[in-house]
Amino acid sequence: MNTQDYINIENELGAHNYHPLDVVIHEAKGCWVVDVEGKRFLDCLAAYSAVNQGHCHPAIMETFMEQAKKVTLTSRAFRNDQLPRLYKKLNELTGYEMSLPMNSGAEAVESAIKLARRWAYDVKGVAENKAEIIVATGNFHGRTTTIVGFSDDPSSNKGFGPYCTEAFPMHEYGNIEDLKSKITPNTAAVMIEPIQGEGGIVIPPDGYLKAVEQICRENNVLFICDEIQSGLGRSGKLFAHQYEDVRPDMVIIGKALSGGFYPVSAVLADKNVMLVIHPGEHGSTFGGNPLGAAVAVKSLEVMVDEKLIERSNEMGNYFMEKLRAIDSPMIENVRGRGLWIGFVLKTKARPYCEKLKEEGLLCKETHVNIIRFAPPLVITKDEIDWAVAKIEKVVKSFD
Ligand SMILES: Cc1ncc(COP(=O)(O)O)c(C=O)c1O
Repeated sequence: MNTQDYINIENELGAHNYHPLDVVIHEAKGCWVVDVEGKRFLDCLAAYSAVNQGHCHPAIMETFMEQAKKVTLTSRAFRNDQLPRLYKKLNELTGYEMSLPMNSGAEAVESAIKLARRWAYDVKGVAENKAEIIVATGNFHGRTTTIVGFSDDPSSNKGFGPYCTEAFPMHEYGNIEDLKSKITPNTAAVMIEPIQGEGGIVIPPDGYLKAVEQICRENNVLFICDEIQSGLGRSGKLFAHQYEDVRPDMVIIGKALSGGFYPVSAVLADKNVMLVIHPGEHGSTFGGNPLGAAVAVKSLEVMVDEKLIERSNEMGNYFMEKLRAIDSPMIENVRGRGLWIGFVLKTKARPYCEKLKEEGLLCKETHVNIIRFAPPLVITKDEIDWAVAKIEKVVKSFD
């Protein structure tokens, strides 16, 4: 079968909930993927940051295979010998006292919402069913009906209601005065992305995160950072909120915790928050399974041992510097942190992505006019040079 055969099957038999580029990937290693025709491409999306460690990382693969031979899934009615290792690793790495493992990012966000509401009722004393969680304009926290209910992106939420919007007041991302005006005695939490990824690599104004933290402290409100995409090195720090030296009450992680092998997400919090949920009140069949836990521990070890956070910072600055040097009237700006770059055009980005694919570079538009460059964090300077040459060629072809 060739590329078109696979595409035909997908179009005919698969749900049409994505609009992928017409490349059919067959295998991958590091930053590179190979399609069914044998053509190589540099992957500049890294599975939306889920393969920060690079595709098919050998050490993570070995852990995956070894654990798969022993035990992959046990009921959480019993214990397994891998989950405590993950708890310990997350505690040592992040300083949070406890963690709650789930699978997808959206499930971890849902878990954080439940923790915040329960905390509001049991600790803060908010009246039952009155808890509010303040979110931000331009947010992206996943695709469940609760979560899309507080998105302001019509492509996420139109036609899937009804929603409980009064439970999720929205403030303008980056606007502290607006946030203050939304706080009420029923506010349980403020939940934000420290950098908005799906929103187009939107970096809030300096001081915003610090001010959010302060408002939360002054009003006995929990501060939740969704670091599912921004965390674990993508932004050039372990967590993007560390750019402002804040300590949220809850941090949500996912994506790269999987090493690209097996979905694992988690909520990190201290005991005063985490222990508001008791046995039987929350769970997931696959959450905390031994295969996922073993893979997550190794994925974190690889991130530390290979200095991927430092690499992200260094290579990200190098990549951005080179992109900023491209001289074209079609470029609005280049922004980003670490290897998480928004290449903002004055025109539609999709044709650029299509043409870059022809040149052997895979990337994806976010919103209409922004290309996100987010390669695996193992990318080298030579590979960045190669990518920039292709990007420059394609950009100039549209001038
Ligand atoms: C910030 C953020 N939160 C949550 C999610 C949802 O994660 P998942 O697709 O694993 O449910 C995403 C996915 O892109 C994300 O970027």
